[in-house]
This record gives sequence, C-alpha cells and structure tokens, in this order.
Amino acid sequence: MPSYAYFHKQFIPLTEAKIGIMTHSLHYGTAVFEGIRGNWNSDHQQVYLFRLKEHYERLCNGCNVLKIDLPYSIDELCQITVELAGRCGFKEDIYIRPMAYKSSEALGVRLHDLDSDFLAFIIPWGPYLKVDKARCSISSWRRPKETPQAKITGLYINNALAKTEAMGNGFDEAIMLTADGYVCEGSGENIFLVIDNKLVTPPSYDIFLRGITRDTVIELAKNELDTETIERQIERSELYTADECFLTGTAANITPVGEVDYRKIGSNEIGQITKKLQKIYSDVIRGNNPKYLDWCTPVYKKAR
Ligand SMILES: Cc1ncc(COP(=O)(O)O)c(C=O)c1O
Repeated sequence: MPSYAYFHKQFIPLTEAKIGIMTHSLHYGTAVFEGIRGNWNSDHQQVYLFRLKEHYERLCNGCNVLKIDLPYSIDELCQITVELAGRCGFKEDIYIRPMAYKSSEALGVRLHDLDSDFLAFIIPWGPYLKVDKARCSISSWRRPKETPQAKITGLYINNALAKTEAMGNGFDEAIMLTADGYVCEGSGENIFLVIDNKLVTPPSYDIFLRGITRDTVIELAKNELDTETIERQIERSELYTADECFLTGTAANITPVGEVDYRKIGSNEIGQITKKLQKIYSDVIRGNNPKYLDWCTPVYKKAR
C-alpha cells in the first residue's frame, strides 16, 4: 500500500517528498522530530493514535528551543496527522514521523535568519526491538549533559554511537549512563527497574528524554496495579541485581530486559510486573480500555 507524506503544506506520495542537499537541518542537526504510534485494533477495524496531543506539545516545545515558528496550532498538527493516516489507510501498526526543521538552503551554524518547515510521513512498523527480552549493555557513550527536553535531531549522535556499539558487540540495545555515571536511558527508550515490588526509574531532574510512554507506565502502574514508582538515581550495579527491568518508548512499547552486561536479570523470565504492565499497556494503546480512550485518537471515521 503506498504511503503519503505531508510536505510543503500538501499531502503527496511519500516517494515524491524530497529535500535539497543544502538544507540547513541536514548539515547542523537543526530539526525537531516526534515518533507517534498508530495501533491497529482488528476487532474495531480501527487505528488509534496514542497521546497525539502530548507528542505535539513536546514538538512545539522543541520548536521554541530551535526558534522554529510553526504556522500551525497543536490542534491543527493533530488534524493534519489524522488526515495523513486516513489517506494512508494502513490496517496494521504504524509509526508517524513529524519533523519541524530549518528548511533554508543555507550554510552557517546558527538558528536565526533561516526559514522553517514542517513535514510528516507514516510507515507501517511493528516492534522496534524484535525480541521478547532484550539483551543490553552499558554503553561507553554517555548521555550529554545540558540538553533541551525535545527530540532534536542533532542530539541523537551519542545515542546512535551507543546503539551501534551495543549491536556490534552482539547486544540488542545500549543503556547510557548520565555524565555522573548513573543509569540514564536506552538509545531510544526510558528504563525502569522493579525492586521489592516497586518501580524505580531515573528522576526527572536528571537529563534524559522524559518519555510519554514513561509517563503512561507510571500512571498505569499506580491506577491499575496500585504500584508506586520511585524516581531516584540508580547505580549501574543495581541493574544487575534488580528483580525485573524493562525499557519504554513509543517505538519499543514496553520491552522486557533479560540481560545486562552478560548478567541475567531476575529469574531470566519476563517478570510478573513487567508482564502485567505489557498487557495493560497493549490494551490501552489499542483502544481496548474505555478508561483511557481520551489518550486514543481514532483515524478512520467508519470502521475499515
Ligand atoms: C532517547 C529517548 N529516550 C526515551 C524515549 C521514549 O520517549 P517516548 O516514550 O515519548 O517515545 C525516546 C523515544 O523516542 C528516545 O528517543
């Protein structure tokens, strides 16, 4: 099925959406992006976009940081995305990549005196980490300090270095430490441990991307499992001794971690709390839990 892009204020086939080689953001990382999931529900014959508004709130914060003046409100960005997904017509899980970027064909490191544009495209995308339990390693690449709370393209280089290092060494994912040596996040996910039946995750005052999935998991754990989340700094060795460990992200959903640095985590099976959260989360993002339908935006007016 052909996919579509929103590009230069129009819906066009994805294959026709191209940018020039002098585009500023290609050279200097001056773009801010989002990753949004659309989750297919075959019983409802519907795709639900998960926490669409929150993703665009984060994108707009990033635009402010990069001095990108978007000619759209958050509601308009949501409408564009629903229309794009509707035109694509996929009947499977999808991933939406919106991006606001410095579009001038101009050289020079700066944020001022440059035009900006907005684009979005959609691809069908199943699980990001294609394993039941991820094998992870602590990366020699640390999460840079003092970075804005946004998915800015230029900030992703350490994450890419970390991911490739981990995969080159036979692991599925990298876990980066903070500059101070505490557990920080995966290359594209936040991290949780289960210790004594409580969730433990790095604290918001540390520098990592405060994920929308992280926020969702904290709320679901509290509401549905009566389980508290403690936000505190985590020593590297606590990863080795935790009862359970999992990664969270829009692309990765909730991915259990089975092993870190060649040490098995817990019983080496998917932990009980992780398993329960995976089930609850999967129902919520697919529009199967009426309590959380406010987080789900249906794409199709009529079931497909
Ligand atoms: C570095 C990093 N951390 C965490 C996350 C998880 O964020 P979210 O749950 O909002 O997708 C992402 C998602 O792309 C990420 O790139």
